Amino acid sequence: MARLVIDPVTRIGGHLRIETSVSSGQVTDAWSSGTMFRGIELVLRGRDPRDAWVFAARTCGMCTGVHALGSVRAVENALRISIPRNARLIRNLLAGTGFVQDHVVQFYQLQSFDWVDVVAALEADPAATAALAKTQSDHPLATVEYFRGVQSRLQALHASGQLGLFAQGYWGHPAYALTPAQDLLLVAHYFEALDWQRTLMRIHTLLGGISPHAATFLVGGMAVVPPWGGPARASSGEHPQQVDRKSPDALSATGLKDIGDIIDITRRFVDQVYAPDVALLARAYPEWAAIGRGRANFLSYGEFPENDAGDAWLMPAGRVMDGDLTRALPIDESGVAEAVVHSWYAIAGDPAALTPPAQGETVPAYAGPALPLTTLEGADRYSWIKAPRYQDDAMEVGPAARLLVGYAGGTGDLRSRVDAAAALLGGEPAALASTLGRTVARSVEVQLLVSRFTDWLRQLEANLASGDLAVADVTKWDPGSWPSSASGHSLGEGPRGAVGHWMSIADRQVDTYQIVDASTWNASPRDGQGRRGALEEALVGTPLSDPDRPLEILRTVHAFDPCTACAVHAYDPTDRGPIGIRVSPGGAR
Ligand code: NI
Ligand code: MG
Repeated sequence: MARLVIDPVTRIGGHLRIETSVSSGQVTDAWSSGTMFRGIELVLRGRDPRDAWVFAARTCGMCTGVHALGSVRAVENALRISIPRNARLIRNLLAGTGFVQDHVVQFYQLQSFDWVDVVAALEADPAATAALAKTQSDHPLATVEYFRGVQSRLQALHASGQLGLFAQGYWGHPAYALTPAQDLLLVAHYFEALDWQRTLMRIHTLLGGISPHAATFLVGGMAVVPPWGGPARASSGEHPQQVDRKSPDALSATGLKDIGDIIDITRRFVDQVYAPDVALLARAYPEWAAIGRGRANFLSYGEFPENDAGDAWLMPAGRVMDGDLTRALPIDESGVAEAVVHSWYAIAGDPAALTPPAQGETVPAYAGPALPLTTLEGADRYSWIKAPRYQDDAMEVGPAARLLVGYAGGTGDLRSRVDAAAALLGGEPAALASTLGRTVARSVEVQLLVSRFTDWLRQLEANLASGDLAVADVTKWDPGSWPSSASGHSLGEGPRGAVGHWMSIADRQVDTYQIVDASTWNASPRDGQGRRGALEEALVGTPLSDPDRPLEILRTVHAFDPCTACAVHAYDPTDRGPIGIRVSPGGAR
């Protein structure tokens, strides 16, 4: 039995080390290790609760809005604040475009080179690629000249001997199964996706003021101010005191029209490029719908509130246990707890016990193995990631989990979307929770979201036009109005899955703060009973055709879209790197 280590895993968020045992061409056991401690939960203590979101957002540069939203909601829950309708819709549009950008970028920029051989694209016939593109959609960039141009750019890069971003890939690996024409098509779309996301993120610069790290979150609502008299009055799109500048007010007629136009561009790219490419990949790699299955426990906290009461979501809350898709069980925050028995944390009492986040602590205590790290084999504690459990069970979270919870819960539109995805995966909805299925699940969610954006925008326009210009409830803005102590939490969903924030306020300051992120769930180490986390479980059984180039392991890891920056949430200010640990590069960029 061989021990195979990938450290760091690249094309993810944060620092992740994967160790596996390999025997007879298959992974027989796996250990997921977050190798960077950040301690945002400690940074948050003593802050003004109204400022907490700004710090929480810095948990991650990719998932920034997810944690900003999780934080304002937790403080609103603690102070019993309800937000106005306009704020709910603006938050849905901001968070929704974040999901769409994240999923599409994850596919092209982070994941596609596990499936697409960039060097093989040099062998492609541009005419064959153009013909292939025309069978996929009406996307206008489908000419022979266009693909010849992309190939020339790639050829120049390759001839320079410096593949840059594409260096150190496992090019020529026997597990690559696309034709050269398919490879070239997806490489062309890799570049197009970079341009497209720049356009999409203008929605964030309009509604969030900046991207990333949107600046308009507010405890009580959103700091996005409608023009005097609502959008109709400012028909020119200009605020009465408008000074000369390039962007209109987001909530002016011009601003809302701009957002609508960007939504149309987004939908076209999704329909003509992204969704067909995911389908192409699914047809080329059908065996991967059976690989990477986990324990089949799925959790979703629910996201995109569709009413002001906050009890109906586009993506429903619930959980599915042991793959039983006939029913979704209800969930609430009291089911969530974390163990640190295999993590580098100190805790008073039994480390194998599960501690609810409201009582959680973050006391970093690195406990070996000796450095420099060569293997975690035999190490009892092996990660900076804690082990969250729902009523004692390890859960998978993320797009596949959300869709399966929605399917089991029986929502009509979601059920038909899942059935269509299942057909692409060989028939059964459960296949969504596989290495290929998790990738297809992102595409299903992107299509679901772009189908909702226009309606959310119309609702926002109509509500502003009706004279309701409220964007925030600031009646509790004065800390003098707060109780001497309060506690709150939020359960929501980010692109990578279920995100919970738990906080308490004492003497007008943040007293305790705990985050349990999506990747904390998925990249969790073992718990007190020795049970693996979702990613560890999914890796068992992964085939390996060339152990020196573990491409197949990367496929299963990347399908989870891990973000360990989020999962661990101090850094060592000396030049020794992440506390106590040196990492040596390995694996493909
Ligand atoms: Ni993140
Ligand atoms: Mg945490």
